[in-house]
Amino acid sequence: MFLILFVILISIIILYYIYQVNKYKIIDDYPGPSALELYKFMLLPKTTVDSYKYFVSLNKKYGAVVKIWLKPFKPTLLVSDGKFMKSILLSKEHLNKPSHFALLGAFMGYGLPIMTDINLWRQERKTFSHVFNNQFIIDYTSTFKRHAINLYEFINENLNQPIDLQMLLLRYGLNIVYDLLLNEDLSKQDNRVNRYTKSMKAFFEVYLDRINSPLKINDTIFKLTENYKTWIKSSDEAREFVESTLKKVIKLKKESPNTSDRKDFVDLLLESNLSYERILAQIRTLVVAGAESVSSATGFALYRLAKHPELQEKIYQEYISILGMDKNVFAEFRDIQQMTFTECVVKESLRLFPSGPFIFRTLIKPTEIDGKLFPGNIDIIFSIIDSHYSNFDNPTEFKPERFFPENILNIPANAYLPFSLGPRDCIGKTVAIVEMKFFLSYIIRQFKLHPISNHEANLSGVILTSKNGLPVIFKKRMH
Ligand code: HEM
Repeated sequence: MFLILFVILISIIILYYIYQVNKYKIIDDYPGPSALELYKFMLLPKTTVDSYKYFVSLNKKYGAVVKIWLKPFKPTLLVSDGKFMKSILLSKEHLNKPSHFALLGAFMGYGLPIMTDINLWRQERKTFSHVFNNQFIIDYTSTFKRHAINLYEFINENLNQPIDLQMLLLRYGLNIVYDLLLNEDLSKQDNRVNRYTKSMKAFFEVYLDRINSPLKINDTIFKLTENYKTWIKSSDEAREFVESTLKKVIKLKKESPNTSDRKDFVDLLLESNLSYERILAQIRTLVVAGAESVSSATGFALYRLAKHPELQEKIYQEYISILGMDKNVFAEFRDIQQMTFTECVVKESLRLFPSGPFIFRTLIKPTEIDGKLFPGNIDIIFSIIDSHYSNFDNPTEFKPERFFPENILNIPANAYLPFSLGPRDCIGKTVAIVEMKFFLSYIIRQFKLHPISNHEANLSGVILTSKNGLPVIFKKRMH
């Protein structure tokens, strides 16, 4: 009896497998790693095999569309082909993200980047599109000034010795976004900030390990592992970090409502009738999305400028021509708009080091892409990093002139997407560019940056980081 049941069960699995393979036959046209190769990758701890490097190597080895059977019955495509990216990212239908995004909610809250309830996402995206307007960006610029002075003081006290830009800017990025969203100054709360950044690092390590493991992705099995404790602890700390401030802010607003015309971020969210839990979720997400991505991008830009004194000089001359010789003058929004060379430096840095090297979607229904009909229920990983390298000549060279107006037409369509594309693109892209340009203009006018000889960034991460940091030496700028 047992044997018969066993044979029936195995037959059902085999038939279902054959059905699935037939359903996804079109995907067989694409090359990809063998099952054995993939399982080796999935079973090894992600401290041994770096997921970032593995996915980058797959596009290099197999081309711009790679088939990966990460899950037994659901294929994933790893794509850096411009036409493919455009047709899905611009679509108003394929807005869903793969199911593992739900896991990110444990740490970040279920805010815009990870929302899988698309009707709710549409409503809340609309609310945020109103909030992230030009006035918001101008207010943001005044927040930068306070933090720029603190950053200056820290660097000034640590001249002529290596400073890790990554750690430094993450702390400041967090202070800025927190100040902007919640009006709280974290600059005197180093312990609290350090606890949060540590839990962020710990959480993302476990997350990467989990989503690429056929066993640990399962909640029941994951609960039996050591990492479960880290997962719970870091998620609790992340929630507490934002919630303790938000509760205080809302209580104060209830006691003395803001009746002026100048509304802050929480006022605008309260006016838009978002519930307390939704505001909390959105702010938790924005703290991570805003702080990590901008500090990563600014850190890499300064790191590369340290290796190019001639570009530092050129960018410095732009600041002198716009802001004059007084180093203590802060760039205003209108000055930032005139910084065209800085803009090219920022764009080139985001090409080499996109803060989001991979973005994700799930095909919700059969779809024609470039003349081929793909069945629904396929996860897609868009490799922005591969697109940024494979479509450019001498891709590892830092050449801001690629983005000069006369050269921009040489960039293939949809090959450059640091902020993604379409209805679900980055809502903070203008803020991010303004913030980066502001900080470059402030730091480069005060200091000259020098590289550490032979140091090359070891790239990794869901949000791009360097495993061996981004050390540079700051020296006071005399002229
Ligand atoms: C250099 C800095 C930044 C980069 C490179 C960046 C890049 C990205 C990318 C690639 C996405 C994914 C889009 C997709 O899935 O198609 C994204 C989404 C998002 N970003 Fe950014 N980002 C940056 C800064 C910011 C800032 C400063 C904020 C807010 C303060 C922000 C808020 C968001 C939000 C809310 C989403 C989700 C949008 C949605 O799903 O509707 N980002 N960003």
